[in-house]
Amino acid sequence: MENKGQFSQLQNVPVHVGFIMDGNGRWAAAKNLPREAGHREGAAAARAVAEAAKKLGIKYITLYAFSTENWRRPPAEIAALMSLLEETLDKFAKEDEDGVRLLFSGRREGLASGVLRKIDRVLAATAGNKGLVVNLAINYGGRQEIADAFAKLAAAGKKKITEADISASLYQNIPEPDLIIRTSCEMRLSNFLLWQAAYIELYFTDVLWPDFREPQLMQALVEYGRRERRYGRRAG
Ligand code: FPP
Repeated sequence: MENKGQFSQLQNVPVHVGFIMDGNGRWAAAKNLPREAGHREGAAAARAVAEAAKKLGIKYITLYAFSTENWRRPPAEIAALMSLLEETLDKFAKEDEDGVRLLFSGRREGLASGVLRKIDRVLAATAGNKGLVVNLAINYGGRQEIADAFAKLAAAGKKKITEADISASLYQNIPEPDLIIRTSCEMRLSNFLLWQAAYIELYFTDVLWPDFREPQLMQALVEYGRRERRYGRRAG
């Protein structure tokens, strides 16, 4: 099998990995390119990482593609990001020999109707696929996800709310991520998967997102395999 040596280094491959894809702007600036070029290479990195994740045995990835805070960017950059998102959704949906299943996490309000139509179309087109699940966090905020979960429970008339109720009312009913990878050396969660992050492993790298590919993912997984997850228990 190709890359067998590399694979054999891996212990405890995480089931679900979240990605904070940061550094597109700095990547472009370092090359004297417009920011959009950084986002475009970032989208290529996202697709390459999905391919690598499949190969390495990861079952779910969540990509932080557009946060609720990203609306503060200049309109031209937002428009470029939205059209790149639509293009990338199509590419993910077309590469379906391996059956990628796309999910959407975020608020629909605020997204343009064209983007929503595209999201709905790719969700429906890939719904029956059994391969890697690619959860796209678009117009996503972690606090907003928790607030929306409470609103859902309140609307259902729920008075005594448990942790399990909140977990079950999040945008997706999928296993919680084991690992969050953030590129470009920023050490923050930036409102990503706040509820799910209670016991998550965090991995930071100074690689800029557009340069992140299979070898960088492998490196993160090797490091993850060395961690001992204790969930509050004592070591040993
Ligand atoms: C952060 O880089 C990145 C974003 C705000 C957008 C991420 C979106 C993509 C990579 C497009 C991928 C699309 C899909 C559907 C997966 P930044 O602009 O904040 O970089 P900087 O901090 O260096 O300025």
